[in-house]
Amino acid sequence: MPARQDPHHELIGLIRALRRTARRRGALGLHSTPVPQEPPSAPRAEKVATSGPPAQSRPAQSRPAPSRPAQSPEQSRPAQSPAASRPAEPAPAAMSPADDVRARAAACPNLSALRAAVADCTACPLARTRTQTVFSDGDSTCRALFVGEAPGFHEDRQGIPFVGPAGELLTSIVEKGMGLRRDEVGIVNVLKCRPPDNRDPLPEEKRICTEWLDLQIELMDPEVVIALGRHAAGHLLSRDDTMGRMRGKVFERNGRKVVATYHPAFLLRSPHMKKDCWQDIQLAMGLLGLKPRGKQ
Ligand code: URA
Ligand code: SF4
Repeated sequence: MPARQDPHHELIGLIRALRRTARRRGALGLHSTPVPQEPPSAPRAEKVATSGPPAQSRPAQSRPAPSRPAQSPEQSRPAQSPAASRPAEPAPAAMSPADDVRARAAACPNLSALRAAVADCTACPLARTRTQTVFSDGDSTCRALFVGEAPGFHEDRQGIPFVGPAGELLTSIVEKGMGLRRDEVGIVNVLKCRPPDNRDPLPEEKRICTEWLDLQIELMDPEVVIALGRHAAGHLLSRDDTMGRMRGKVFERNGRKVVATYHPAFLLRSPHMKKDCWQDIQLAMGLLGLKPRGKQ
């Protein structure tokens, strides 16, 4: 008959068995007490929501990510956590591209800041196909500001508005017609990026890009804006009309005088319309107090 173990020995055996189990669990990395889980690491960069193409050089992405307050485990828990069962907070409404551009423009105190902000703009799909943005020829205030439609092939390459054949004619209008140097007037476009194959600007592209243009006009502070062509005139005057009906008059936009005339590229194709353009230029010159010059 096996000898009965005394209770003391039984207790010691039990303690040893428990210790062995504890050692095995320890070796396997198992813990009987809960250890707080490390929160997953914070996302590296927050994506800025725009409907535009992936940014190549958006400030928010090219700058180092701003330091953010450490996330509490609550904020960074995976979806299955109890936090997920709470009612979700409404996501902040994504800014429309036009609102985004307006906010970025509003943060620009001067023309050089605006030029730099435009160079980073990816608010519409034209950012994908441009070589570079085309902001203006010169960054100074001016009495007369010419506003064209959009950069073409040459402008996209050089980053300066009106440098191709249409630009040569515009230079001649300014220098021979008005008796001014090209650098005495401002030259800009409604769109800052070239539409592929020089297609017409789309209404949505104009609507977004005009947020840059409006501040650009304010900062260049011209007395007279000369809209070149149906697109620029229709856009600046909020009219869908023919140039024949828009030209030859003085309009007002945001307290500035606006005169519309034919686009130089159109005049290259239809030179007989140059006399109408010359009348419009003389109208603008009169508003500027410039002496009329001989027929061009
Ligand atoms: N046409 C435009 O409207 N703008 C330019 O800069 C060049 C051609
Ligand atoms: Fe931005 Fe204007 Fe260029 Fe579009 S066309 S990407 S709105 S600068």
